[in-house]
Amino acid sequence: MNNIENKKILLIICGGISAYKSLEIIRLLKKKGACVKTILTKSAKEFVTPLSVASLSQEKVYDDLFSHENESEMDHISLSRWSDLILVAPATANTIFKLSSGSSDDLASTVILASNKDVFLVPAMNVRMWEHTSTKENLKKLMNFGYQIIGPEIGDMACGEYGQGKMTEPVEIVGSIELYFSNLKKNNNFKALVTAGPTHEYIDPVRYISNRSSGKQGHEIAKSLKKNGFETTLISGPTNLEPISGINQINVNSAEEMFKAVLNCLPTDVAIFSAAVSDFKIKNKEKYKIKKKESMNLHLEKNIDILNHISKHNSLRPKLVIGFAAETNNLNEHAKKKLTEKNCDWIIANDVSDNTIGFGSNFNEVSIFYKNMRYEKLPKMKKTFLADNIVKKVISHLN
Ligand code: CTP
Repeated sequence: MNNIENKKILLIICGGISAYKSLEIIRLLKKKGACVKTILTKSAKEFVTPLSVASLSQEKVYDDLFSHENESEMDHISLSRWSDLILVAPATANTIFKLSSGSSDDLASTVILASNKDVFLVPAMNVRMWEHTSTKENLKKLMNFGYQIIGPEIGDMACGEYGQGKMTEPVEIVGSIELYFSNLKKNNNFKALVTAGPTHEYIDPVRYISNRSSGKQGHEIAKSLKKNGFETTLISGPTNLEPISGINQINVNSAEEMFKAVLNCLPTDVAIFSAAVSDFKIKNKEKYKIKKKESMNLHLEKNIDILNHISKHNSLRPKLVIGFAAETNNLNEHAKKKLTEKNCDWIIANDVSDNTIGFGSNFNEVSIFYKNMRYEKLPKMKKTFLADNIVKKVISHLN
């Protein structure tokens, strides 16, 4: 069995001269046993006919955002949920612009905006359009969104010019899709552990000390690991986030509970410690609610450092141990120190003094420090896309 057999591919065909090659993509995918549904944009119909697409795919062709026939089906949601992968081929300069700005004025763009699946774009356009700064900027945004780009190739173009912009050949596109599914299958053998969120260290039954943390980044990492085929356990401190389907989520309160849950879940291939664990716990937690008084002292003692313990453990240490460092100053120095002192393979460091990123925000801006002291600074991006970026690096490291 090949890796494409029984996979559900949603192919979006846009209006470009290379749309004729999309018919060959459908033929090759069908030959490998995939189920292919298609959306044709308005201008795509100028280049290929719905009849030829429907005949090759043996499925109804979708085009209208609002169809009287299928109103109850909500095509823009159901098509995306149905698919295992969305392929946009050819992706024209106009489509690339629309997707980069979150447009949803037709079925194709709305499906992608509403999608929870991986999106592959196969650009095809004139060389000058491809080289234009606006296309490059739009593409950069799409890559930050986590979309995968195939091509374009260099060669003679239908318009008579020569350069980069030619759509990648169907056989290679199908090859990339096959590789994607085979990687997913390979990752199926990997186990991952993520800690996320804050911990609550109780003073009495109603009061606690804690760290600021929404848990969003860790939850996004767990989501991305799961999406990429990892058997994932998320050990989360208290957050307001929805549970993620398909992963094993263990909710904990205190650092001690988090530590026990981590021990229970090991061994894993990778462990990502993104939790904002409280460094201290209350020495003598009160059984009953403490009554108001003029002043009171809290006796704190050090909590176990979960990351430090696991990364120095002879038998339990996962192959890849990744820590986080949330800093307000001297980011690089502190991150490098934590990398070495906590025996991590990577430290992901972010500056939490900037309110537009980090705590509670949907965005993050981090640098990744590696064991060999090399580091890379990633641009500010949505936590979802940062999670995909991190997971991509994890996959290439493990493989
Ligand atoms: N960490 C942990 N257990 C702790 C404290 C921290 O597992 N008790 C992990 C965090 O999940 C993170 C890394 O250690 O991956 C660094 O956490 P951070 O709070 O940035 O640093 P600390 O080690 O607590 O040091 P400091 O508070 O002095 O910056």
